[in-house]
Amino acid sequence: MCGIVGYVGNKFVDSVLLVGLERLEYRGYDSSGIATINTGELSVCKKKGKLKMLNDCLKETGLGGNIGIGHTRWATHGEPSEKNAHPHTDCGKHLAVVHNGIIENYQQLKERLIAKGHIFESETDTEVIPHLIEEYLYEGLENAVRKAVGEIKGSYAICVISEKESDKIIVAKNGSPIIIGLGKNENFVASDITAVLPHTRDILILEDGEIAVITEKTTVIKNLQGAVVSRQAESVSMKAQDIDKGDYKFFMLKEICEQPALIEGIINSRLKNGLIVFDEMNLSNKYLARVKRIVIQACGTSWHAGMVAKYWLEKYAHIHTEVDVSSEFRYRNPIAEGDTLMLAISQSGETADTLAGIREGKSKFIKVLSIVNVMKSTIARESDGIIPIMAGPEIGVASTKAYTAQLVALYLFALYLGRLNYTIPEDEIKTKLDGLKAIPGLLNGFLKSQDTVIKCANEYFDRKNFIFLGRGINFPNALEGALKLKEISYIHSTGYPAGEFKHGPIALINETTPVVCIAPKDELYPKMVSNIQEVGARKGRIISVATEGDDRIAGISSNVIFVPECQEDISPMVTVLPLQLLAYHIAVKLGYDVDKPRNLAKSVTVE
Ligand code: AGP
Repeated sequence: MCGIVGYVGNKFVDSVLLVGLERLEYRGYDSSGIATINTGELSVCKKKGKLKMLNDCLKETGLGGNIGIGHTRWATHGEPSEKNAHPHTDCGKHLAVVHNGIIENYQQLKERLIAKGHIFESETDTEVIPHLIEEYLYEGLENAVRKAVGEIKGSYAICVISEKESDKIIVAKNGSPIIIGLGKNENFVASDITAVLPHTRDILILEDGEIAVITEKTTVIKNLQGAVVSRQAESVSMKAQDIDKGDYKFFMLKEICEQPALIEGIINSRLKNGLIVFDEMNLSNKYLARVKRIVIQACGTSWHAGMVAKYWLEKYAHIHTEVDVSSEFRYRNPIAEGDTLMLAISQSGETADTLAGIREGKSKFIKVLSIVNVMKSTIARESDGIIPIMAGPEIGVASTKAYTAQLVALYLFALYLGRLNYTIPEDEIKTKLDGLKAIPGLLNGFLKSQDTVIKCANEYFDRKNFIFLGRGINFPNALEGALKLKEISYIHSTGYPAGEFKHGPIALINETTPVVCIAPKDELYPKMVSNIQEVGARKGRIISVATEGDDRIAGISSNVIFVPECQEDISPMVTVLPLQLLAYHIAVKLGYDVDKPRNLAKSVTVE
């Protein structure tokens, strides 16, 4: 996934573009660049590495002007390098393009263009776009872009500027997100709302197959046939401070610490006089009562949340539930009968594999309910109904608050279905909701003293491998803890169902590899104790996550991180906190960029 920005107005364009790219850097950060038109001349500056490299370069030789486009990259075709960085230009270097997406037929297009004499400088798929536009430029910039994108197969969100029509930005969209920010005598383009927030909260959302012609005073949206499309501007509620680190060193720690208040806010929004309300769900109770099978498909952390939800949906709503990673689900030719509901879980709402899974499900005429954080995302818009997790913008690449918000939404949904199906008594629902309401206070208490976690981080930050074990409803958290650690500290970590460990992986035990055992007091606690003893018998280093006051676990562990007691079925909302903090403090100790880990992007909008 990449971030693209555009600006036309009365400000010094370099600064506007750089600030916008800074807010989009979480989408990809292996290289970046901008192009502007200043006194009728196109200039381009691009750099390998983080945005700081580009910033430093522009400090010396700013490009200037009042119109420009910018890009921050997560490489798909062509390694991270200056020549592969965007913007890309035509042969004459009179027009520039930035692109987010994948051009599937770029090889054929490139061969055809080279045969016509076009000179290519990069290995990217994107570079075919400016050369295609150049082919049709005699028809005017807008028509040239329309014809060019008409030949592209794949996903794109592009911004185009040209010396020949230097008062406008042409934007085109298909499959990748792009929004237009509406200002006074200035307009903005960005991959998502966060980049335009410092300037405006009034936006227009471009839909697939649309083109926008933007000048400092006007924005006209048209379809690929050239017909004008009317689109209502929307005002976003998000505020600039929502995407500011404040006093935190990294967004990840801010977002970990936001979880108690966030969960409290979600509960207050979703519970009205004891009823669970999902205003945006758009699926009738009559339909939901007929659902006999649920298929959950998601990626990464969202997949882990789906694995937890399976326990709740089967236990409380008595609905058979399958969980799959989207990248597998989408190619499995899944069997779907009429009584199947698909749950797609995605924080960003732009994950290509999950989106493809939704389209696969809808091609089999099943209804899709998405659990999303970004309301205007592609996944949200292509689903039959949505349950917003209301986590606010999550900037850190490693997902934390979105995970717990997903768990709360999924837990409430399971109780909602249980009530609908009369598979859980009313008094039990009340007890469950009371237990859920206690979670924010428990998390707040734990966050007040991170010393034990920091001590573990200081003791084990230099280990080369970690193992995470959990059972039952806490098994997905073993996977989540391993993912958090590997994606920000680059330490090899693996999560396992604790009961499975003896079937081979226990051979990995040695005296240096920490084994994180998630062992809260629950129905499988005795089994978990046995697993911990099996590890201890082989001199393994055991870090246990245990219920406060559990001296038994403390006595058989090298380190113990106590968490407050809660209702056992929602313990993943609590046991995940030390795992998030352990990963965070280890990565900080190692000196890594926690918010922008290497090779990653916040949302993977490519296959
Ligand atoms: C989680 O920390 C990772 N950044 C990643 O696994 C992420 O959960 C996954 O890419 C899914 O993203 P989504 O929820 O936006 O679809």
